[in-house]
Amino acid sequence: MHQGGRHMTSLQPQQAGAGIGLRLPHIAEVVATSPPVPFFEIHPETFLANPHATELLLEVADRYPVSVHTVGVSVGSAEGVDAAHLARVRKIVDLIDPVLLSGHVAWSTHAGEYLNDLLPLPYNSVTAGILSDHIQQVQDAFGRPYLLENPSSYIGFGASTMTEPEFLAELVARTGCRLLCDVSNVYLSAHNMGFDARRYLEALPPDAVAELHLGGFEPEDDGEPGRTLLVDTHGSAIAAGPWELYEYAVSLFGALPTLIERDNDIPGLTTLVAESRTARAHAQRGLEHRHACAG
Ligand SMILES: [Fe+2]
Repeated sequence: MHQGGRHMTSLQPQQAGAGIGLRLPHIAEVVATSPPVPFFEIHPETFLANPHATELLLEVADRYPVSVHTVGVSVGSAEGVDAAHLARVRKIVDLIDPVLLSGHVAWSTHAGEYLNDLLPLPYNSVTAGILSDHIQQVQDAFGRPYLLENPSSYIGFGASTMTEPEFLAELVARTGCRLLCDVSNVYLSAHNMGFDARRYLEALPPDAVAELHLGGFEPEDDGEPGRTLLVDTHGSAIAAGPWELYEYAVSLFGALPTLIERDNDIPGLTTLVAESRTARAHAQRGLEHRHACAG
């Protein structure tokens, strides 16, 4: 199976900061200025009907490692993965030969319609079987490993018989897929669902974790006095709690490609590049802790 793209050997993100999401408002500036970041991550769906942006993307891919993060491949939909959509995304993957390919543990299609959300599902052996079949289908279609990202959680299911880390470990064991650990999602899900974020990270199969994400979220009143819900928005800077949890994740999993996600209220490129540098400093502290524990 294909293990990564043409820039694999140059992807050493903990030495050069964290990657950032390549969003349309920045793409011409990225091509013009080549900012100092180790890689860019794209949503392939952004480029499917945008030939001009795709031309610019090819220029970016000539200079940087690129990671592909799908938002429309729905491995959690009981009716199956949309083969036509896989074929469309495959064209982008073939064009840029990404270093990483990832998507979500969620479903976002129903009866042939795309729902503009990543919807949760219960964690049990029935859903593990459905997802495993779909993950295998995705990995076969792309000819490379697929990284699955943990969702941001707001509700639980009575039908769940496994914790989220147990469920993810089950998918890894059944399919050989890898994991994309969104540290901010772990942080906000722990707050919303009342579990311990560090114990969650410790329960993941460490060798399967191949990428980390960090993004902003917003507190929202959930209707109960004195209680707030943290909502995944990718619309603000990374908060102190997720930075601290990120250091812990690096201490557990080592130096991994890390992405700063920003999809709303997108600031100037220099702000994101500065946040990438901040990530490097936190990762360095996590690595020092890892080495101190190993020594
Ligand atoms: Fe994420």
